[in-house]
Amino acid sequence: MSILVNIDGRLLPPEEATISVFDRGFLFGDSVYETIRTYGGRPFLLDRHLARLSRSAAGLWLPIPRGLDSLRAELDRTLAAAANPESYVRIVVTRGATEGLVNLDAQTAEAGSVLVIVRPFEGQDPACFEEGVDVAVVGVLRTGRRSLDPKIKSGNYLNNILALREAKRLGCFECLMPNREGNLTEGSTSNVFLVRDGRLLTPALESGLLDGITRGFVLELAAEAGIEVVETTLDADDLAAADGLFITSSLKEVMPVKRVKRMDGTVLWEGKVHAIARDLRGRYLERASRCAGL
Ligand SMILES: Cc1ncc(COP(=O)(O)O)c(C=O)c1O
Repeated sequence: MSILVNIDGRLLPPEEATISVFDRGFLFGDSVYETIRTYGGRPFLLDRHLARLSRSAAGLWLPIPRGLDSLRAELDRTLAAAANPESYVRIVVTRGATEGLVNLDAQTAEAGSVLVIVRPFEGQDPACFEEGVDVAVVGVLRTGRRSLDPKIKSGNYLNNILALREAKRLGCFECLMPNREGNLTEGSTSNVFLVRDGRLLTPALESGLLDGITRGFVLELAAEAGIEVVETTLDADDLAAADGLFITSSLKEVMPVKRVKRMDGTVLWEGKVHAIARDLRGRYLERASRCAGL
């Protein structure tokens, strides 16, 4: 088991994995990234993650050095060398640096870098799935679509860090961020779903959120299972009226919520793991195992 970092094709142990202090990813968050995990040693839904990386990069006019085929080959090489039973993978494409220059103008960057960070993935605490987690509707708003559009998975996560901090102060696992209109968007690193009257509801992309790969996959699984799915505008009243709630991400999979707190620490919603959440998690894991050839 090992942690390995691939920087522009060089495989390095963590202590040797360094890039310039003038790199714009470090200075400004001028980078894009993806987080993926493996099942059976194979990165799950890789094509979808690479397609989103490409869209995020295009959204920032950020070239991906050597392209996606090379990135895919380097990822395979890094996973093979790390030889972990299961791995967490973070791919980062940064706009790079002009040595000695600190300048916002993106055109001054000379050459970007592609990083693949691989480390062992031991999974989440099983209690998160058995009992569910607490989340909080926080005061920090999701950046609007006319600011740093949430559909771009950039390396600039300060807004989400601030939002998560508010939730952590309330003892919660994850936050839920409203948009300027007061409608729900998503968590700091997850999307959110409600179950109501047997239907699945989730904030529409137009509310301003990341088009989560797990969100998309769960919507497909729900449709296959004959569950009606509605992508719409949702707010705190909808949370309060839910029969069940869960969050999704590549690392959290389908994770039930047991309590939603308000900013004053009072409970807005409390409930048990809903049968639909359990069913979708089962389907998700079954598909992940199948893709992994397990
Ligand atoms: C802001 C945000 N929303 C949602 C997600 C979930 O996305 P995915 O299912 O692609 O992991 C993430 C993942 O990190 C995220 O950062």
